[in-house]
Amino acid sequence: MTKKELPRLTPDEAAQFIHDRQTVAFSGFTPAGTPKAVPRGIAARALAEHAAGRPFKVNVITGASTGPSLDGALAKAQAIGFRTPYQSDPDLRKSINSGETQFFDMHLSRLPQDVRYGFLGPVHCAVIEACDVTRYGEIVLTSSVGAAPTFCRVADRIIVELNRYHPSFLRGVHDIYEPLDPPQRSDIPLFKPADRVGQSVIQVDPAKIVGVVETNEPDETKGFADVSDVTARIGRNVAEFLANEIRRGLIPRSFLPIQSGVGDTANAVLQAMSENPHIPSFQMYTEVIQDSVISLMRQGRVTFASGCSLTVPPPTLNGIYEDWEYFRTRLVLRPQEITNNPELVRRLGIISINTAIEVDLSGNVNSTHILGRSMMNGIGGSADFARNAFLSMFTCPSIAKGGKISTIVPLVSHLDSSEHSVSIIVTDQGVADLRGKSPAERARVLIEKCAHPDYREQLRDYVAMAGNTHTPQTLAAAFGMHIKASRDGDMRGVDWSKFQ
Ligand code: COA
Repeated sequence: MTKKELPRLTPDEAAQFIHDRQTVAFSGFTPAGTPKAVPRGIAARALAEHAAGRPFKVNVITGASTGPSLDGALAKAQAIGFRTPYQSDPDLRKSINSGETQFFDMHLSRLPQDVRYGFLGPVHCAVIEACDVTRYGEIVLTSSVGAAPTFCRVADRIIVELNRYHPSFLRGVHDIYEPLDPPQRSDIPLFKPADRVGQSVIQVDPAKIVGVVETNEPDETKGFADVSDVTARIGRNVAEFLANEIRRGLIPRSFLPIQSGVGDTANAVLQAMSENPHIPSFQMYTEVIQDSVISLMRQGRVTFASGCSLTVPPPTLNGIYEDWEYFRTRLVLRPQEITNNPELVRRLGIISINTAIEVDLSGNVNSTHILGRSMMNGIGGSADFARNAFLSMFTCPSIAKGGKISTIVPLVSHLDSSEHSVSIIVTDQGVADLRGKSPAERARVLIEKCAHPDYREQLRDYVAMAGNTHTPQTLAAAFGMHIKASRDGDMRGVDWSKFQ
């Protein structure tokens, strides 16, 4: 079989394939594996079109958040009309919260199948970062998988951003598996975090590849802040709780796979778990493999990591590539449809640990909104895991904004994971075990164990106001703390009598 060489393009030439109001799907999950040169080319095209008085906005679909060269550059160029499923870029957040960009927040496990089902409309172009691409249409991804296999399947055409920064020996670390759609879907044959069930490359029709843009750029991933007093206390509370569950026989002595969210708190939690001598070495079956996981792998505390992306800063990634012989057999990168798959999360018995923005007295969790109006990042994979986990934990500091905000509130101002999906809440103050508790008992334990002491009296008064009832809510007052925060920037000192 002879096939033609794939055409080479500059980023500006690649951008000419993309037109106003089209949908572009990009590989990547977090800044890991996200194209950089082509989106910057599209942003430049948008600016030129706008300067010429012509409209130019695209619909952007990705695996999750991206980096400044994608969401940042396109948002600054006012070039994103619609965005899904997740983001964390400050410029894009502004654009969403001002109504410039329409954002659809969705469970990350569902994104690939919703794209295949056609629920998000046609995908005109997929832009895929690769460390290798052959004229036979084999694409080898880089530091993430995300939803790239599905984007390649459904897109009318594909642009490959061939990033030489990533070595071609990555072939083999990806496990590409796409379930068939109903009614043909069967069970996913994965029974342990290290099982491999798919292919190492994405196979596409080479005729769909309109061109290859060559680059050499590191991922735009940043490191985390050092562990603070507050995050260290949250971490210790999580670790001591889990160690005690093992002692009580409620978690098997061999332990269970861990899913951990992203961010400074998640980092501190993993650190504390690894330092606790009563927690055995463990495996990760998670979405994002972040910095702390890599150092725990080097120490032997994490023995295997299955994830969707290697979201680590360039020095850490370089270290992994230098020690590839060690990591090659201890890592696998899968599509988000598999890492976050409800069937697998339930089957493997995942202990899931995610971060909340606020938690209410029933245990409902808000992961996404500030004061019910402003989008922070999105639900991400948190509820994929929380709803199906062996043990569903959420963590957060008990207060935010220097104490002016309590993260424990009467009623969440936006709901992401309901009380029925949440078992354990952990703050720097302590641990609330909500399993088997009525709403009134939940309210009591959340106030006494998790709320900051500055807010306990106020929350007790709120509960007392409801009198004897199944769920101690008073509708007229339920958002009293949020209303006060909107007015004075401070939740302290609410006068409940005004709401009665
Ligand atoms: N009200 C107002 N602001 C609040 C707040 C509240 N209840 N809780 C937190 N904040 C603010 C913080 O002050 C901080 O503001 P700043 O950036 O101006 O300093 C910001 O929100 C982020 O808070 P921080 O404590 O630094 O949180 P984080 O980096 O650990 O992120 C989430 C927390 C919830 C935003 C983040 O984990 C997330 O997006 N989660 C949803 C997706 C997810 O869980 N993904 C992983 C699943 S696999």
